[in-house]
Amino acid sequence: MVLAAGAGTRMKSKTPKILHGIGGVSMIGHALAAARGLNPDVLAVTVRHERDLVAEHIRGLDDGALIVDQDEIPGTGRAVEVALQALDPNLSGTVVVSYGDVPLLTTERLQDLVAAHQAEGNAVTVLTAVLDDAAGYGRILRADDGTVTGIVEHKDARPEQRAIREINSGIYAFDASTLRAALSRVSTENVQGEKYLTDVLSIARDAGGRVAALVCDDRWQVEGANDRVQLAALSAEHNRRNLERWMRAGVTVVDPATTWIDSTVTLDEDVTILPGTQLHGATVIERDAVVGPDTTLDSVKVGPGAKVVRTHGSDAVIGAGADVGPFAYLRPGTVLGAKGKIGTFVETKNADIGAGSKVPHLSYVGDATIGEGSNIGAASVFVNYDGVAKHHTTIGSHVRMGSDNMYVAPVNVGDGAYSGAGTVIRKDVPAGALAINVAPQRNMDGWVQANRPGTAAADAAARAADTSSGSDGAHSGYGSAAPQDSATVEKTPRESDPS
Ligand code: UD1
Ligand code: MG
Repeated sequence: MVLAAGAGTRMKSKTPKILHGIGGVSMIGHALAAARGLNPDVLAVTVRHERDLVAEHIRGLDDGALIVDQDEIPGTGRAVEVALQALDPNLSGTVVVSYGDVPLLTTERLQDLVAAHQAEGNAVTVLTAVLDDAAGYGRILRADDGTVTGIVEHKDARPEQRAIREINSGIYAFDASTLRAALSRVSTENVQGEKYLTDVLSIARDAGGRVAALVCDDRWQVEGANDRVQLAALSAEHNRRNLERWMRAGVTVVDPATTWIDSTVTLDEDVTILPGTQLHGATVIERDAVVGPDTTLDSVKVGPGAKVVRTHGSDAVIGAGADVGPFAYLRPGTVLGAKGKIGTFVETKNADIGAGSKVPHLSYVGDATIGEGSNIGAASVFVNYDGVAKHHTTIGSHVRMGSDNMYVAPVNVGDGAYSGAGTVIRKDVPAGALAINVAPQRNMDGWVQANRPGTAAADAAARAADTSSGSDGAHSGYGSAAPQDSATVEKTPRESDPS
């Protein structure tokens, strides 16, 4: 049974406490995974606060979990009681109880608890820890011979009981029939007016059952997150443990303090993670790849030997030996082939860029398919949106497109085509063709001095005129096409027209 009905008011959040995340998984997700690891006959979860939201989340994590609604009677004892009532009335064997807000607890620790419980023939076995500061927790009461006699809640405890440092983790193994019988006798007569699960221990002992504690030497495994300070502390510890596991598995993590890797991420041997890197979701990094510094990837697959530098990416695939960044933005649907390149200040989305193809500088590639071995010149834009709908651009293999090209989709460029700088590709370009549509450049001699007199530019032009006879206006791109802009020509009568 995983108890998850509490409100978690100290979180001060519209999001229920147990839905807050640690290492990319909600706290209830961690708790359910640990409990499911025991292969229980039934996994029951009690809910109440934000019931529908929590229930839907739980179903998404574990569709085999039995969701049980707690009624208006408050307390951990009541939470367990309603779960028992939802199960077979003749249920026997061991009932394990844990909390939805204790995210670092492992299946192994629960197995240890069950093993001790069953080996010792206990009626109740409680997982405890010895803390320097036990304030707020229920304290473990022991007789002079050391046997556990009960638990007293902090708020109900006398001063000498508050000095006890052994605390109740809230995680237990119970004999089912002892639990059922004891709960029917638990009252709400305490400072909080709640039905305390902790009262089961003394009741079971009074009835002749054996009650024992298993002391957990790893305090993080029993620690719950009640507020955001504890949430951050548990997140950091979770991350530290996760990184340690990856380093032992052959991953170089240069700076664990600034590296955050979700528990859902997979890394191969000889991967290197540089400082300031965050890996989320279903991200997979394959052998010999180097990721970072300052890179955030969410569900990105990075192929073997690829390099991803100062990049933000989500739902993308980076091929073997490919190069990404620095300062690249890979949006969903980006697929970069082996040895391809998405370079500096490049944004991509729904873009399939083939093996060996490169988009090296200052570009936007959206809704595009690019073949193999092609090069997209600097500062190019795939103009995919007409204000209403998105359109696709297809570029073939081994093309050499000029810088500052606009691909006005839908449009196709055939294999081996070229284009000039500044071309606006509005029509399909056949294979092997050179596409150009720039007008020849015209230089209007003396325009600055005539139209911007007294400026630094005019002064500089005047000085230059002293030492040379000015431009010959001969540099005009590709050949001699029609004049550039007759409207401009009419407004500027002082021009000379080289074309
Ligand atoms: C509880 C224990 C305390 C222990 C501490 C460990 C009791 C009476 N006290 O105190 O001895 O040291 O946990 O963290 O058990 N919940 C429900 N229904 C409820 C109340 C709580 O499902 O009516 C769930 C909560 O969602 C949470 C868990 O039970 O997952 C613990 O509840 P919480 O209110 O945090 O109990 P504590 O006061 O911390
Ligand atoms: Mg608590």
